[in-house]
Amino acid sequence: MLTQNLVDWFIVVLRWAHIVAILGWVGASLYFMWLDSKLRKPANAPGVLGEAWMGHGGGFYIVQKRQISPGEVPSPVYWFRNEAAITWVTGFLLLVFVYYWGGGVDLIDSDNALVSPGMAIAIAIGLLAVSWVVYDTLWASKFAAEKPAVATIVSAILLLVVVYAMCRLFSGRAAYIHIGAVMGTNMVGNVWRRIIPAQEQAVAATSAGRERDMAMALRARRRAQHNTYLTLPVIFTMIAAHAPSTYSHGYNWVVMALLIVAGIAARHVMILFDRRLPVGSAWLPAAAPLVMAVIALSVLTTPQLSTGPNAATGSERPVSFTVVRGIVALRCVNCHAQRPVEPGIAAAPGGVRLDSPGEIVRHAAKINATTIATRAMPPGNFTKMTDEERALIGRWVATGAHAD
Ligand code: HEC
Repeated sequence: MLTQNLVDWFIVVLRWAHIVAILGWVGASLYFMWLDSKLRKPANAPGVLGEAWMGHGGGFYIVQKRQISPGEVPSPVYWFRNEAAITWVTGFLLLVFVYYWGGGVDLIDSDNALVSPGMAIAIAIGLLAVSWVVYDTLWASKFAAEKPAVATIVSAILLLVVVYAMCRLFSGRAAYIHIGAVMGTNMVGNVWRRIIPAQEQAVAATSAGRERDMAMALRARRRAQHNTYLTLPVIFTMIAAHAPSTYSHGYNWVVMALLIVAGIAARHVMILFDRRLPVGSAWLPAAAPLVMAVIALSVLTTPQLSTGPNAATGSERPVSFTVVRGIVALRCVNCHAQRPVEPGIAAAPGGVRLDSPGEIVRHAAKINATTIATRAMPPGNFTKMTDEERALIGRWVATGAHAD
């Protein structure tokens, strides 16, 4: 259909723009963190906090970090906020066209949904707004200014609640991208409502000959730190669609929580590396959670082929290939064919065709990974595959995956 085709193209263009905007935003943010770690204070240069020489594209550049004092008006000053705005707008439109446009059916698992698709859309949009109000109110409060450690723990618990609730209410894939959208929305809010306004206030104050508001500057600095540490977890949620073993895991909320810990810790490792800190106790708060999260993740996501309910013991009677073909034809082929008949699917998803015996045998391991080890396929159990059918396919794979 023409309109569906147009929507598909619009989605492609949005994804493209979204990624480019993120490169601009995250690239600048990584660059500034790196720059801060490289600045050296020059001798007898009053007002200069640090400077660094860089070579790029055949030119040499010197960047100085300066204090601005009353009466000093830097002009023009360049801010980096449009990248954040474009990231948010394209990201939100992607949620609209990928998830909300069709009435929200992909937001939930048709098997055991706790909410209706319409309700899921309302929850998704409401959560983006509410999470920002709650987070911003908490961190603008006197409480957070006086007890930042406690506020950090409160924020971590709130994030865990969001992770758990989304994974219970939504299909795994929709839950993960919305958890990313919550973190991303707060990051964009930080840039637009807290970080840039504090810088503008500083310029306005010095040009009026006043001291800048240091409390405001300190709060902005804290928000910038939050953004730094949330970067890697948010980027993971964007690529999670390519890792079905994460979002379709039975404890997908624990997997997500561990991945957030790993992402935050990995970012801290990057910062320590930029500072060339010698290996020692400074690395412990970064390396210990990272190693523990990775170990927990690998234990949690090891496919338990030999103990799961659908597992086969090698001695079981092999399943006839005709049975397997029948199940695949019934549950998979309307999407996974050279010319899919499923509306809105233009080509075999992921390049996986299951419309011939050879293709089914060739993809046996992937079929096992997406329907038995996890329940990523069919998406949201769209074609209502039964547990008996999963068990039959599991036994066929476990007994050699032969075509007879
Ligand atoms: C409603 C359409 C639909 C149905 C039905 C469906 N799939 Fe998929 N499948 C998809 C989509 C969409 C993707 C791409 C997911 C992605 O890459 O984000 C996919 C991806 C896959 C992949 C590739 C995953 C990877 O990581 O490379 C495999 C394997 C797969 N499906 C197997 C199956 C099997 C087996 C069935 C039947 C039990 C099935 N699918 C039913 C839509 C479908």
